[in-house]
Amino acid sequence: MAKNRTFTMLKPDAVEKGHIGAILEKISASGFRIVAMKLTQMTTKDAQNFYAVHSERPFFADLVEYMTRGPIVAAILEKDNAVEDFRTLIGATNPADAAEGTIRKMFADSISENAVHGSDSDENAFIESAFHFSGREMF
Ligand code: PPS
Repeated sequence: MAKNRTFTMLKPDAVEKGHIGAILEKISASGFRIVAMKLTQMTTKDAQNFYAVHSERPFFADLVEYMTRGPIVAAILEKDNAVEDFRTLIGATNPADAAEGTIRKMFADSISENAVHGSDSDENAFIESAFHFSGREMF
């Protein structure tokens, strides 16, 4: 399996609850190498653009408000089969459906505040990484 990259955000609820260290430790222990990382906060425009594909969904306004209410940790992760393996590591979108031991099961409380984002394809991983990082911030 080829080494590739995925993009993640530790969302405002995870940061507010002090889970940055524990989640990063789990990510590292699962074999992902951090190749870019920063603490940042999205503007409303940023979040509307980042989640534009979901703009017609009923939860869109709440999602934008949630994702902009405080800092997030944005990161790019490298591993064999990174996109798929990271989606497995974070678990189902709704923490209630997430498998035991997944990040959402361990650190998230609800579908609307689910602690962590993971890209859903190699193409989106590239687009989302470029949204948050310049070339000289990736190692
Ligand atoms: S996914 O991850 O794209 O397969 O999941 P999807 O169900 O399509 O959800 C897309 C993003 O919207 C978030 N989401 C919600 N936010 C608020 N309220 C509700 N009900 C809700 N349902 C889904 C979900 O966490 C996804 O965000 P990201 O950042 O991609 O995880």
